[in-house]
Amino acid sequence: MHPLLRADLAALPDLLASTLEHAAAFLQSLPTRPAAVLPAPRAAPALPGTGVGAAQALQDFVVDYAPELSGSAGPRYFGFVTGGATPAALAADWLVSAFDQNLSSNGDSVATHVERHTIALLAELLGLPAAFTGSFVTGATMSNFVSLAVARQWAGRQLGADVAQDGWGARPPLPILSAAPHSSVYKAVAMLGLGRSSVRPVAALPGREAVDVAALAAALHALEGQPAIVVASAGTVNTTDFDDLAVLGALKQQYPFWLHVDAAFGAFAACSPRYQHLLAGVEFADSVTVDAHKWLNVPYDAAMQFVRREHQGLQTEVFQNRAAYLGPVAADDLDFNHLTPENSRRFRALPAWLTLMAYGRAGYQEIVERNCDLAQALSRRLAASAQFALLAPTRLNIVCFTLRTNPAMPAAELIGQLLARVRDDGRAFFTPTVLGGQAGIRAAFSNWRTEPADVELAWQALTEAAAQVLGPTPTVSLPAYPS
Ligand SMILES: Cc1ncc(COP(=O)(O)O)c(C=O)c1O
Repeated sequence: MHPLLRADLAALPDLLASTLEHAAAFLQSLPTRPAAVLPAPRAAPALPGTGVGAAQALQDFVVDYAPELSGSAGPRYFGFVTGGATPAALAADWLVSAFDQNLSSNGDSVATHVERHTIALLAELLGLPAAFTGSFVTGATMSNFVSLAVARQWAGRQLGADVAQDGWGARPPLPILSAAPHSSVYKAVAMLGLGRSSVRPVAALPGREAVDVAALAAALHALEGQPAIVVASAGTVNTTDFDDLAVLGALKQQYPFWLHVDAAFGAFAACSPRYQHLLAGVEFADSVTVDAHKWLNVPYDAAMQFVRREHQGLQTEVFQNRAAYLGPVAADDLDFNHLTPENSRRFRALPAWLTLMAYGRAGYQEIVERNCDLAQALSRRLAASAQFALLAPTRLNIVCFTLRTNPAMPAAELIGQLLARVRDDGRAFFTPTVLGGQAGIRAAFSNWRTEPADVELAWQALTEAAAQVLGPTPTVSLPAYPS
């Protein structure tokens, strides 16, 4: 063994103790650490010929890089849809690295049971019936990818083809119908060789991002029995709009399509009696995407891919990884390496298992409802503000709003300036968007730490930056969003 490795092995308890100190210091800094940081440009270090040992390397990292890490795990990072890590999830994630299990196949560890048990716990939390099974992947993009890969296999079978074996070939493009698909759906179909142009936008309801079911039915009718994929949104990123899943489910009686529901964060509406109606009909889905590193608040990178049990054969047709050294493909309790893109797989189910056991249904109901209440609190301030205006009603945990600029002002540019000021101020972080052609700002509430005082601080940062960008007299009134 290399002497540095031998020395580090002997000093492992000390190394872990100092790692704990650094981690604790970082976590304690979260309430005051800038929510986001624009890092200074820096040159990459040269690879050392002789290393410095783990303790020194850790120290160097802490000095050279750690000051410019963001507080994205903290309570006032409202960009994208970003969760933190609950204490239980964080503890489990440390152990994942210590345990370093490979959840590729069954038969050498209990870890694969933990993944199956966690999938069952999540299905229960999210109200998915026993007809669904699932597995962990690295994020919602990969979950959409796996779901659409199985959907492609299903569509091929409808046409008498085995696409996993023979490819999609010269067949006509597979229609993928959706009103407001997440950008990762385009990425997934590009990766699948179906082409981004196979996604066909369907009209949304007026002033909404939810699909106009009559328009969808007309589009399906026009396909004259050709199989299709419908990607439904259960929580769009701008306005948390939900497609009417029950009506889409009913349409399956009339037309041959695979119903995929992207519920990356919206699935957690099921945790609250206030919002669970939004998911009515999810049981009709063929596949469902749910992220774990968003509202479940486990560390990156973790998401779940749910699929109806009856489709697992199709999933195996796509993802099977046959090699003599990997062993046979079992009929039951399939090895995960035949179900997901990864062959070797991290024990990413453990943080989810621990956090579900630690906080239970009531804990997640509280996080979801608190986040939604805080989104409403920000919305009320925005609605009453002379500087800002809402671009959409706040349905769940995301607030979509804009600056009140007059038509002569470049709204997108001013929003860019405002967001840069807020980021550099450090009290909060928001990201830009465009809704219906109008430049806007999003505030996503999905972190378990966020409390009312954080909305107060974020509001101060926003209004101060708006005053700097707009000048003292704000301008015109914008039309209110359609009710
Ligand atoms: C609805 C939806 N789908 C997919 C994704 C992609 O998620 P990930 O970044 O985990 O790949 C997101 C991310 O915000 C999302 O909100």
